[in-house]
Amino acid sequence: MIGRRAGKRGFPILPTTISSQELGNVMTESERTLLRADVLRQDPRLEQAMQLLRDAVTDAQAPLNKVCRPQSGRTIEYEELLDRLAAGRGGKTYFPYLSSGLGNGPWVELDDGSVKLDFITGIGVHGMGHSNLDLVTAGVRAALQDTVMQGNLQQNPPTVHVLERLLALARQHGAPLGNCLLTTSGAMANENALKIAFYNRAPADRIIAFDNCFAGRSIAMAQLTDRPKYRTGVPTALAVDYIPPSDAENSAESIERSVAALDKQLKRHPGKYAALWMELVAGEGGYYPGSTEFFTALIERANQDDVLIIFDEVQSFGRLSRPFAMQHFQLDQYADIVTIGKISQLCATFYRETLHPKDPLLSQTFTAASSAIEACLVLLDQMEQGSMFGPEGTNMQIHHHFASGLQRLAEQYPGQISGPFGAGMMIAFTPGDGSANAASELVHRMFAAGLMGFVAGGNPARIRFLPPPTVTKLEHVDAALAILGSILAD
Ligand SMILES: Cc1ncc(COP(=O)(O)O)c(C=O)c1O
Repeated sequence: MIGRRAGKRGFPILPTTISSQELGNVMTESERTLLRADVLRQDPRLEQAMQLLRDAVTDAQAPLNKVCRPQSGRTIEYEELLDRLAAGRGGKTYFPYLSSGLGNGPWVELDDGSVKLDFITGIGVHGMGHSNLDLVTAGVRAALQDTVMQGNLQQNPPTVHVLERLLALARQHGAPLGNCLLTTSGAMANENALKIAFYNRAPADRIIAFDNCFAGRSIAMAQLTDRPKYRTGVPTALAVDYIPPSDAENSAESIERSVAALDKQLKRHPGKYAALWMELVAGEGGYYPGSTEFFTALIERANQDDVLIIFDEVQSFGRLSRPFAMQHFQLDQYADIVTIGKISQLCATFYRETLHPKDPLLSQTFTAASSAIEACLVLLDQMEQGSMFGPEGTNMQIHHHFASGLQRLAEQYPGQISGPFGAGMMIAFTPGDGSANAASELVHRMFAAGLMGFVAGGNPARIRFLPPPTVTKLEHVDAALAILGSILAD
């Protein structure tokens, strides 16, 4: 035991020199024996246990491969549980959704015994599907890592691996991103992005963003988000100005209009903008992708005034033809700060090394759960080894298949749906007259019929899908189209 004496306020003070007796049997540098953690990790019982778990999950989940109605004997209990949930959280959930804790790819079993096709996945979170076997074993590996959470003062080697692999992925097409900060929510990743931008462009105190953007629910993000109702009563934390997003139907005009709006703002508040905030595919706003030409024109104008470029990829990460939307749109060279979340299981802010704040602006007790770190590593494996990316990758193939199916339904049922919209594994349609009521009504009918989607945007409101990219097959898309078709025919 190292000797300690009490300092002021009773805190122990470490001695400046430690005697060899005090060091006891500390090893010399050349010694290296198995860590006790390695002894645990290499214990053959773990491998057997993991295999047993995988087998048990496989057997249990196998029948979950089609829509099933709720079991009548469970509905009263289920409704009671939902009521208790509503009482606790102060309001009903959007859907009567409580998972049983088991699923199979895009299929999920609910606690009322129903089975649904989950094409919204917690708004883009369960990108590897339900009860993914690799995630089951990743969860066990995490449970054997001593602590549930990791953070600023409590990190294990998997944090290093995940950081390095995320950075390598972000840089693979030339983005000059040297640092990565993990965190627990998309809003917090965005908060960190904002802080980095303001720190580096002080005293600039404004942000410029797209009409209709969504950035999260913290006080600053509610300000950035272009939805007045999301900030009722919330004090103004940030000065934000908006410019029109891309209008794909009118691209040349749209570029001109948005660049002119940006130019006007930059001249109105010279030196006051820290960053141009961009979602490359507007998510909550209604699934509007921009184009390389559109974004490049804006970025080049912003760069003239030294305004930093932030890509908010919290929703789009993992869903387009390349892992990052900036890579899909070939904007890598312009990235100053980039955020991801949802499908990555943990959230992160990437930024240029030159932007690293010298003051202690960035720190958190929790950076991620051990299970989230392990799950992110599984996702990275699946992204690297799978066939999701490339112009012919499954993300784009599934998009085309889904989009042409929606197009057919739009032709078959004119006035009932229009579209499709979106990009890659972010796909949407406009229901009926595009009113919020039409969207909400159809989304609930879909849920009852076994297909989970969700609303997005306003004016027109849309119904969107975020299918799980690593497990969705064309046959799942056909099942979704069949359910939607039968509702429309009804
Ligand atoms: C583009 C975008 N940014 C940020 C967020 C906020 O993420 P979180 O809900 O994890 O805070 C979201 C969530 O939907 C999002 O879509």
